[in-house]
Amino acid sequence: MQEQIRNINTLEELQALYAATFGKTGTMTARLKQMKDMDNAARAALNAENTELRALFKTRQSELEHAALMSKLAGESLDATLDGMPENRGTLHPLTQALVEVSGILESFGYTMHTGPEVEDDWHNFTALNTPAHHPARDMQDTFFLPNGNVMRTQTSAIQIRAMEESGVPIKMFGVGSTYRKEMDATHGPMFGQIEGLYIDKDITMADLIGDIRAFLGRFFEIDNVELRIRPSYFPFTDPSIEIDMKWKGDKWLEIMGAGMVHPNVLRNCGVNPDEYQGFAFGFGWDRLAMLKYGLPDLRELYGNDVRWLRKYGF
Ligand code: DAH
Repeated sequence: MQEQIRNINTLEELQALYAATFGKTGTMTARLKQMKDMDNAARAALNAENTELRALFKTRQSELEHAALMSKLAGESLDATLDGMPENRGTLHPLTQALVEVSGILESFGYTMHTGPEVEDDWHNFTALNTPAHHPARDMQDTFFLPNGNVMRTQTSAIQIRAMEESGVPIKMFGVGSTYRKEMDATHGPMFGQIEGLYIDKDITMADLIGDIRAFLGRFFEIDNVELRIRPSYFPFTDPSIEIDMKWKGDKWLEIMGAGMVHPNVLRNCGVNPDEYQGFAFGFGWDRLAMLKYGLPDLRELYGNDVRWLRKYGF
């Protein structure tokens, strides 16, 4: 029996033999039952045999288990030349990245960041911006009206009014936020991000405006000599009003932003004396700047948050 146990080579066989020996109908079990009829010497011998056999089973079992583990490990050898598992890292959304860059640049020029409510009252969105009720310029923006007369903010220009009401002048600020209009195509969505700049002090001129915009665009697009084209335009809250275009990749002119010298009525509406203070304002869609910088073709996808689309463009 002892030899037999030592020669067993699988755990299954060992278990079978163990059951045949120590199980309910096992050989050792049967012999132990007869112990009461034995003399002392025979009992002692049987006890010793019983103990020895159990120990032998235990030893063989751990030998076989160890061997099984070793052969499993040998089969599972680690191939250190295999590629690692790709790391699934998140990135900042292109709009967030663009906003971080834009605000970093404007802050380095001394502008401080402001925000405001997206549901805006008529005063801040229109009237204070020299666009009273029935002013034809209200038609320039397809407004979402709320039943109580409030609007979904159509322009971050509303934030410049709040900033002047709160902090007075001199002021050098930019407002950031989402704006809403009833429009939808590849470059317009019902919601888009706008940034508004405002600089009011005693001797601010259009030359300061153009200088800051040129420096800003150069930094943002990493272009050395930004070529700008200044066209006359119309906005109710600036006078004179201009539209700024930028030369893109050496051939195309792109419309980048509206701007102008803040209209005296706007300053008066914010409690500022226009004979003492003057300055400029500018406004642009920062999602449009992100699309240009990162080569993204469709504004709607920018707000779709489809990770596959974002990955395709390197995000
Ligand atoms: N609010 C204008 C728009 O949404 C953009 C704009 C134009 C803002 C001229 C300005 C500005 O501050 O001076 O179309």
